[in-house]
Amino acid sequence: MTYETIIVETRGRVGWITLNRPEALNALNTQVMLDIVAASTAFDADDTIGAIVLTGSERAFAAGADIKEMESKSGLEMIMGEHFGQWQRFADLRTPVIAAVSGYALGGGCELAMMCDIILAADTAKFGQPEINLGVIPGMGGSQRLLRAVGYYKAAELILTGRMMDASEAERSGLVSRVVPAADLLDEAAKVAEAIASKSLPSVYAAKAALDVAMETPLAEGLRFEKHAFAALFSTDDQKEGMAAFREKRTPDFTNR
Ligand code: CAA
Repeated sequence: MTYETIIVETRGRVGWITLNRPEALNALNTQVMLDIVAASTAFDADDTIGAIVLTGSERAFAAGADIKEMESKSGLEMIMGEHFGQWQRFADLRTPVIAAVSGYALGGGCELAMMCDIILAADTAKFGQPEINLGVIPGMGGSQRLLRAVGYYKAAELILTGRMMDASEAERSGLVSRVVPAADLLDEAAKVAEAIASKSLPSVYAAKAALDVAMETPLAEGLRFEKHAFAALFSTDDQKEGMAAFREKRTPDFTNR
């Protein structure tokens, strides 16, 4: 399958999606949303894929939702057309996604990174929610996910002023998993993705689901989910294999059963 706005590759057990609208700093128009959702859900449905990397260019991960596409729309068109509606399908993937961010991750670009499970940032990365400068507010989850990532006061300052923060401030604030030199970004993303893809799929899916529940529910409910998900994994061959391999001091040979 070919896509208009992204480049899609499979490298071993890792699916790669690279945003490819250099003329617009990878601004996220409707076609980008449809392409990313189609490519990522296809990876999600493939049990030979254990992790996905989403990346942009050196200059921009994504500079936000496409302003030129939205500019003339009415409020009613935005809400009835579910303008960003398909993105939830990306956020709901079972497969872990690593955002490899270089350059601008602004507005919807920052929000897209926050829909991923791990954010690796090049030391050149710049994050922000500049929607307030356009007379609007974040519209792809920024007011909710940024607050959960960095806390109320940091999120409020960023969203209300629209200022950008650099990679080291983003790391100190808890928005990114790790900062790496720009030249190493894709190699590091590949290493993280391959490490995840070498695990047992049922346990990776359960871990991601438990983390998602933690973001969305009170503690007691999350702990109940974790208890049952943890116990359910004891019905897999891979739990027996993983624990036997530990006892026998060898690398486990997982079969995803
Ligand atoms: N939408 C549409 N086009 C965009 C864009 C966007 N979000 N960001 C950049 N572009 C386009 C520019 O219009 C320009 O195209 P032309 O050459 O045809 O004019 C091209 O990409 C290159 O951009 P610049 O010339 O502006 O590059 P720069 O290096 O001078 O500045 C920048 C870079 C600071 C990122 C600047 O482009 C910028 O401020 N972009 C907009 C950032 C923004 O406001 N993002 C939020 C969008 S709204 C949103 O995302 C809502 C939501 O929550 C979902």
